[in-house]
Amino acid sequence: MKVTVCIGSSCHLKGSRQVVEQLKELIASKQLQDQVDLSGTFCMGNCEHGVSASLDGENHSLTPDNTRDFFERQILAKLAVND
Ligand code: FES
Repeated sequence: MKVTVCIGSSCHLKGSRQVVEQLKELIASKQLQDQVDLSGTFCMGNCEHGVSASLDGENHSLTPDNTRDFFERQILAKLAVND
């Protein structure tokens, strides 16, 4: 599974760094490093909905406050389906 978080300037101002840090910790806490490929990207052209992220090509809007929810509802749920 590929998770990409925008680290462009607009998303950076909205907390993309915290989002990435949180995702890293959450992924590590479940030992999913082999299954989740987390990376950063420059502006995804969707600044008004930032922090922009994509999960296997599907766009999502994250904030530092909803990152845990995104992890649980999207990433964990998808991995469970794929198992
Ligand atoms: S800076 Fe993130 S979508 Fe533009």
